[in-house]
Amino acid sequence: MAGVSVQAFRRQGRRFGAGLVCSEMVSCAGLQHGNERTLGYLRISSDERPLAVQIFGSEPEVMAEAARMVEDAGADLVDVNFGCPVKKVTKTGAGATLLEDPERACGIVAAVAEAVSVPVTVKMRRGLENGSRSCLELGPRLVEAGAESLTLHPRSARQMYTGEADHSLTAELVSRVDVPVVASGDVTSRARAQAILATTGAAAVMVGRAAQGNPWALREIIEGDAEPPAREEVVAELILFMRATVRELGDKRATGFLKKFYGWYLGRGRFPRPFKQELVQLETLEEVETRLLAAAPEAADLLERLETEAPEGEDDVVLDLPISIYGGG
Ligand SMILES: Cc1cc2nc3c(=O)[nH]c(=O)nc-3n(C[C@H](O)[C@H](O)[C@H](O)COP(=O)(O)O)c2cc1C
Repeated sequence: MAGVSVQAFRRQGRRFGAGLVCSEMVSCAGLQHGNERTLGYLRISSDERPLAVQIFGSEPEVMAEAARMVEDAGADLVDVNFGCPVKKVTKTGAGATLLEDPERACGIVAAVAEAVSVPVTVKMRRGLENGSRSCLELGPRLVEAGAESLTLHPRSARQMYTGEADHSLTAELVSRVDVPVVASGDVTSRARAQAILATTGAAAVMVGRAAQGNPWALREIIEGDAEPPAREEVVAELILFMRATVRELGDKRATGFLKKFYGWYLGRGRFPRPFKQELVQLETLEEVETRLLAAAPEAADLLERLETEAPEGEDDVVLDLPISIYGGG
C-alpha cells in the first residue's frame, strides 16, 4: 500500500504471520526521468522475504528495466500494478488504465516476464467503470503473457474504496485461469477470510487496511487468536514501528508520515480519543515516545524485548527505485 507499506510495516506483518508481504508501488517513470517526486527509496532486508516488489508504469521496456533492478536487489516476486485508480497515475496510462488497454497490458507483462527469472504477478481492479468485468477478459490473457499469479481487488477504479469488493468476480476469475488467484478487498477477520476462500476458490487472501496499526488482525486471521492486545503491547509495537520508520525515512519525513498511524494504533477503543489528538500535535517523535510510555509504562520492558528479538537488518539494500508519492490502489 502506497504511503503505508514501508519496510517497518512489512517486517511487522511478517512477524505477525503474513506469508508474503509486498512493497509500496515503485515508479518506473521516476527511474527513467530521474525527476519523479518521491516518498523515498525502496529498502529491502532479508527478514522480509519472501518479498514482492510492485512496480507501475506504462512502457514495457522501462518496466522491464525496473523489474531487473528489483530482482537484482533480492525481490522474490515482481508484481505489476494494474489497479491504481489515482488520476496522477492513470493519466499516464499506468495503473488501472491498463485494464482497458489489453494490448499494452499484455506487452508489459511479457516484457517484464522476459526480463526476470523470478515469478511475475499482476494486481488488478475489476475495471475502470462501475460494473466493469474487464478483469475477467484480461486475466487469462495476462497469464498467457507470463503472469504466474493474479490478485484481484474487485472494485472499479471509479469506486475507489466505496461500496464492497464483489468477490463473485474473484470466483469467476478463478474459474478462468489455471494460476493461483489472490483475493483482495475487505478481508478484515478470519471468518471473512474463510468465507472468501470457500466461495471463490482463491489460493490466498491479501490483507490491506485491516492491518494498518493493527498487526493483531493478521494473528486473528491466520491463527484465530482473537485476544485483543493489551495497552502496553500496542504502545510497544507503535514505538518499535516509529523507530524503524525513522531509520528508514529519516526523522523529518517520518514525523509527518507517522501521524496517520497514531489513530490507527490507538483507536479501536484502545485509548481515549483525545490522546491521539494530543500526540498529533506534539512536534518531535521523542515527545511522542515519552507521552506514549507515560500512558503505558509497562511497555518499556516489552519494547526492549521486541528490539532484541527483531534487530535492524544489517543486510538492508537501499534501491535507487523511487516510491511514488501518489496514493495507490
Ligand atoms: C492507502 C492505500 C494504498 C494502496 N496502495 C496500493 C498499491 O500501491 N498497490 C496496490 O496494488 N494496491 C494498493 N492499495 C490497494 C490494496 O492493496 C487493496 O487492494 C485494497 O485496499 C482492498 O483491500 P483491503 O480492503 O484489505 O484494504 C492501496 C490501498 C490503500 C488503502
